[in-house]
Amino acid sequence: MKSSKAWSIGTTDIQIMPTPRHRPPSKRPIWIIVLLCLVCLSLIGAYIYPPQSFSACYFLSSNVCSPFKDWLPPEPAREYTDDELAARIVARDIISMPSVQSKNPKIAFMFLTPGSLPFEKLWEKFLLGHEERFSIYVHASKEKPVHESSLFIGRDIRSDKVSWGKISMVDAERRLLANALEDADNQHFVLLSDSCVPLHNFDYVYSYLMETNISFIDCFEDPGPHGSGRYTEHMLPEIERKDWRKGAQWFSVKRQHALLITADSLYYTKFKHYCKPGMEGHRNCYADEHYLPTLFHMVDPGGIANWSVTHVDWSEGKWHPKAYRAQDVTFELMKNISSIDETIHVTSNAKKIVMKKPCLWNGMKRPCYLFARKFYPEARDKLMHLFSNFTAF
Ligand SMILES: *[C@@H]1O[C@H](CO)[C@@H](O)[C@H](O)[C@H]1NC(C)=O
Ligand SMILES: *[C@@H]1O[C@H](CO)[C@@H](O)[C@H](O)[C@H]1NC(C)=O
Ligand SMILES: *[C@@H]1O[C@H](CO)[C@@H](O)[C@H](O)[C@H]1NC(C)=O
Ligand SMILES: *[C@@H]1O[C@H](CO)[C@@H](O)[C@H](O)[C@H]1NC(C)=O
Repeated sequence: MKSSKAWSIGTTDIQIMPTPRHRPPSKRPIWIIVLLCLVCLSLIGAYIYPPQSFSACYFLSSNVCSPFKDWLPPEPAREYTDDELAARIVARDIISMPSVQSKNPKIAFMFLTPGSLPFEKLWEKFLLGHEERFSIYVHASKEKPVHESSLFIGRDIRSDKVSWGKISMVDAERRLLANALEDADNQHFVLLSDSCVPLHNFDYVYSYLMETNISFIDCFEDPGPHGSGRYTEHMLPEIERKDWRKGAQWFSVKRQHALLITADSLYYTKFKHYCKPGMEGHRNCYADEHYLPTLFHMVDPGGIANWSVTHVDWSEGKWHPKAYRAQDVTFELMKNISSIDETIHVTSNAKKIVMKKPCLWNGMKRPCYLFARKFYPEARDKLMHLFSNFTAF
């Protein structure tokens, strides 16, 4: 019983305290008095500073300590603001919505590019013969693209300027999603860049994305300067530091999640104001690397895979990922990338902790990647030549 224990500490304390004072010191060996004093001091200490004995419980076995733990006040539940409560219920209901049973479910391939797409012909090779099962959207932020493939003609959406690392990047992603959501047949939404190429054939990609209920959003906790270091308390109360996540921009989401991103204004606005390059003079934050991982970690952590299906090679440890030239592109390289079945995340702190996880697709270990970046335009002919071979299985 917690209360009797606390009381017995108190009473023992009072009984022992006067004892040494009333006994003539000469009749007892001095060490007993010293010992008693030490006991007294420690009991007084325990009485005056009970919280310390509680925190000590975390280091002790729980059996001894559990009665004390009950004394800790319960963590107060945060009271949501009006906007937050509204955002949370909208998110909850969108997520639990049954997916619309389209007779003709399609994948929306959404290209975020400055201008023309160097790999249009390669994508055409990938897409041809499957016209009923995909749609294409192109957001060209700098110049009007010249299309080489008829599949891409007339697929440009109204676009706006995009600045690297700024919220305009997220705006372009949302613009692509909103355009693609207009077609009720689109069930999965893949964001791609001009330097992305497919790693598998269409049927493989289609069933990989359609026959699962999760979205592939990269998400991990990085305690280092490029992770939590970019958090600011201006994000409070809605976004706490413990919820801050990081991940690559290149997502692939199911329809409910695409709707959720389009519907969100509360969290988006926080990132728009408080996550940008060169904040407070020196601190950088890039909304495209934090907004979606943090949002989904908060509203639907079990609904995302925590990895992106677009491969990129950061292993050189530079500011930019490895970019492949024509000479790098071989059957072996493409095979290597498409057979990777573990994701790797490395923290940006001094410890550089490497976190490896198997890619589990519906609970089974599977290759992680369907697409890869970054390829130089000069790699096109080699990729075209090898495509049927490395996507044969
Ligand atoms: C996805 O969810 C639907 C409905 O909740 C369910 O019927 C279906 O079996 C699920 N599919 C997979 C691959 O888990
Ligand atoms: C993704 O990570 C979260 C923890 O952040 C976890 O709850 C969730 O189950 C993970 N998703 C999958 C599909 O394993
Ligand atoms: C492919 O992977 C093997 C084994 O990991 C490695 O030895 C080889 O260098 C890789 N080749 C290319 C072209 O990346
Ligand atoms: C493609 O694969 C076939 C059979 O494995 C092989 O004979 C052919 O040389 C390969 N082509 C290229 C371009 O690698």
